[in-house]
Amino acid sequence: MTTPVSTAPLLEVRELRMEYPQPGKPVPALRLDFLEARAGEAIAVTGPSGSGKTTLLHLLAALIRPTGGVIRFGGRDLGSMGTASARWRALSVGYVFQNMNLLPDFSLLENLTIAAEISGVPRGRALDRSRALLRRLGLEGLAHRRPAKLSLGEQQRGAVARAVLHAPPLILADEPTASLDAVNAGLVMDLLLELSAESQSLLLVATHDETVRKRFSRVVELQKAAGVENEGE
Ligand SMILES: Nc1ncnc2c1ncn2[C@@H]1O[C@H](COP(=O)(O)OP(=O)(O)OP(=O)(O)O)[C@@H](O)[C@H]1O
Ligand SMILES: [Mg+2]
Repeated sequence: MTTPVSTAPLLEVRELRMEYPQPGKPVPALRLDFLEARAGEAIAVTGPSGSGKTTLLHLLAALIRPTGGVIRFGGRDLGSMGTASARWRALSVGYVFQNMNLLPDFSLLENLTIAAEISGVPRGRALDRSRALLRRLGLEGLAHRRPAKLSLGEQQRGAVARAVLHAPPLILADEPTASLDAVNAGLVMDLLLELSAESQSLLLVATHDETVRKRFSRVVELQKAAGVENEGE
């Protein structure tokens, strides 16, 4: 007998709204009425500057709480996790920040192993997997260098390796190819798509790069949330 495959989507977004508090009038930053996605899917998030791409990724990582609507991941309401969100994020999310956020005082290899250990990967395995990923990225010769002594492309690939190391069910990447040349951008995208497929992670990539967008069969296009501003007026 085979186990029935769950048909419930991994990610469910309903009537999502984000307004940042601000003296005077809140800043409307995002409106997204509906999104559902399953494990193993890869989605590009596009839209003009200020349409809320980064805000959406922050909400999906439970780094901020929505001002309206619901996000459920694996059936869990991300808006009501409170202090449990840090633990959930460490175990469930790989995040590639636009500015990479590699720890400056640690080597590339240490950046990977520290992140893996925080995510609960045992030390020996963290080291093996970090080394293997760096090899795969052609970065093994740079394992002991600090980020400041790496090129932007090398740092970006390192940041991707760090995010996917523990095979999290959710991988979020914010403009991961910004400021990279075409060759490095291609490498970073290959890596994100291959590794998220290998671990059957749900991958969302915010991008304004048309070449990157074309690599995705699913695209979520955000609109400026300016309409929210006029509500009640
Ligand atoms: N912390 C914040 N406080 C107040 N307003 C914010 C904050 N972060 C973002 N915003 C505003 O929210 C809106 C959406 O911003 P966001 O950074 O999500 O857009 P984006 O689509 O990622 O833009 P870009 O393509 O330029 O990266 C913008 O109007 C922005 O000015
Ligand atoms: Mg952004």
